[in-house]
Amino acid sequence: MSGETLSNLLSEARRFPPPADLAAEANVTAAAYDEAAADPDAFWAAAAGRLDWAEPWQQIRDWSNAPFARWFTGGKLNAAHNCVDRHVEAGHGDRVAFHFEGEPGDTRTLTYADLRDEVCRAANALLSLGVRAGDRVAIYMPMIPETVVAMLACARIGAPHTVVFGGFSADALRGRILDCDAHVVITADGGYRKGAPSALKPAVDEALTACPQVRSVLVVRRTGQDVAWSEGRDVWWHDLVAAQPAEHTAEAFDSEHPLYIMYTSGTTARPKGILHTTGGYLTQAAWTHWAVFDVKPERDVYWTAADIGWVTGHSYIVYGPLANGVTSVLYEGTPDTPHQGRWWEIVAKYGVTILYCAPTAIRTFMKWGEQIPARFDLSSLRLLGSVGEPINPEAWVWYRHAIGGDRTPVVDTWWQTETGAQMISPLPGVSTCKPGSALRPLPGISAEVVDDNGQPVPNGSGGYLVLTQPWPSMLRTIWGDEQRYIDTYWSRFPGYYFAGDGAKKDEDGDIWLLGRVDDVMNVSGHRISTTEVESALVSHPFVAEAAVVGAADATTGQGIVAFVILRATAAEAGLDGAALARELRAHVTKEIGPIARPRQILAVAELPKTRSGKIMRRLLRDVAENRALGDVTTLTDSTVMQAIREGLPEGS
Ligand code: WTA
Repeated sequence: MSGETLSNLLSEARRFPPPADLAAEANVTAAAYDEAAADPDAFWAAAAGRLDWAEPWQQIRDWSNAPFARWFTGGKLNAAHNCVDRHVEAGHGDRVAFHFEGEPGDTRTLTYADLRDEVCRAANALLSLGVRAGDRVAIYMPMIPETVVAMLACARIGAPHTVVFGGFSADALRGRILDCDAHVVITADGGYRKGAPSALKPAVDEALTACPQVRSVLVVRRTGQDVAWSEGRDVWWHDLVAAQPAEHTAEAFDSEHPLYIMYTSGTTARPKGILHTTGGYLTQAAWTHWAVFDVKPERDVYWTAADIGWVTGHSYIVYGPLANGVTSVLYEGTPDTPHQGRWWEIVAKYGVTILYCAPTAIRTFMKWGEQIPARFDLSSLRLLGSVGEPINPEAWVWYRHAIGGDRTPVVDTWWQTETGAQMISPLPGVSTCKPGSALRPLPGISAEVVDDNGQPVPNGSGGYLVLTQPWPSMLRTIWGDEQRYIDTYWSRFPGYYFAGDGAKKDEDGDIWLLGRVDDVMNVSGHRISTTEVESALVSHPFVAEAAVVGAADATTGQGIVAFVILRATAAEAGLDGAALARELRAHVTKEIGPIARPRQILAVAELPKTRSGKIMRRLLRDVAENRALGDVTTLTDSTVMQAIREGLPEGS
């Protein structure tokens, strides 16, 4: 974020106190901050007490082997029981768990009792395929109820799931399956996207050509597309799952039993398998969902408009809302299919009261115009949330006005795949919101903004965001790579968790998130590593060297801009510039997925490098954003930048 934007942010003077009626009935009051500060362990123990434990814990937090944390040690619980069975047992079996809305307009209603039956059947099906506690199961699915069922079935039998976003390529899927050594994959023939069936099974088939250890693929029929079938390996969900008994006794697992692995981009080309375990994760996912969204399970209709393939879907479509026994909306498709008012039609149809989405969606709706949501009755909404990237004050104010009718609080929630649950956010019944600020750490969470030496910065200054105390839903490690876990998060500032984000404290000490300070881009709320895209580009025979930067983009937050040095083979192929860019874009899509496709690809003769040979991305970003160049004194050859600039097409 540029200095100019930063000073704009800090002169943002609009203030929005909590609505009186919401504050009067809020689940959490200001006292929670003091209670948690006085005794954080007791605070988290009370939050864990909102769950059903088969055996009590002996110790709340064990940080003796830092940075490897254990929470609620000795306690035993089953995540699926907590998300489903206990609500049925408490007499809420008839409550709707999900209103499912398919993109073509088909709908399904699943009550908690329906969900319990389905999860039990799927758990029995996985057992029949030989899946046992501790085995990893990969899930590559569209946004349909079976995806939730599959995750909970895994949790029920103690098999950690790894959900791979359906937009990832066969190669990306294969890398994740191999990294966590999954032997079973759950997928679908396809899902609906942008008004058409979009296939998933072919990517699984392609991925598995190099995954000999995968013995079973369980396939949901969603679109009815033709699929290739591998006899003996592939099995239809409707054949296997439907035939199972709807009874299954959930076993209680250790609080530290692995619940899932979620891959996320880091600063190297290889994605990191973020490991979450059961007791602490579920405690914080459930508590934050209850506190930050102030959910009232008897009357709210909650909607996280995100994909289950990201951590937001894990914590705030599946585990948080279900642990709280809430009714949710699950929508399969895109916001503009078949028209640009689809989300608002869904809000009106189901009477959605709480909506959670990413700033990139909000900015898109702004672009489409206020007249579109204005055509729908959005009066049911009482609270709005934002996640995934910094929200600029104008988008925040527009969201509150055009969607929230100038009535609803907007909670800007900062967190990460690694944190498992929300960490910095307003509390809607307590906080006076500032557009663009996540305000302060939630009760029980300790964060700080520090300078290069790890010293807290004074109010009014910026630095690096760190977390200074362990928290229940923190990642436990990077799957199979403890050293990388230590190096990535705990080495930059000894004793502190380094989040990789820049932040500023305003004069009140409130926190404003400023985006990544490392080589991670944030495109439409998706984390993508520059090196991952670079290594995809250099794997193409035309490319000798590549440097990728995230350039500011008014809608997507950042856009991917790639600078490439071509090999002679490129000239020999005789493609013109546009055809070449098309070819390289398609290659990145194949290697990683469409979300990583560069917005611009610029062929250059040289790249700016420091004397130690490191590519100076900062300068490339300046070029891509067409700003005055930053300091170039460490460049080996300062004419390089001149040459790059002159090679740029007009207006780019
Ligand atoms: C960014 C998504 C500013 C941040 C839950 C973080 C945010 C990364 C916010 C994590 C926010 C997330 N304000 N930036 N409210 N929320 N981010 O792992 O850079 O996909 O490090 O988790 O998104 O992305 P991830």
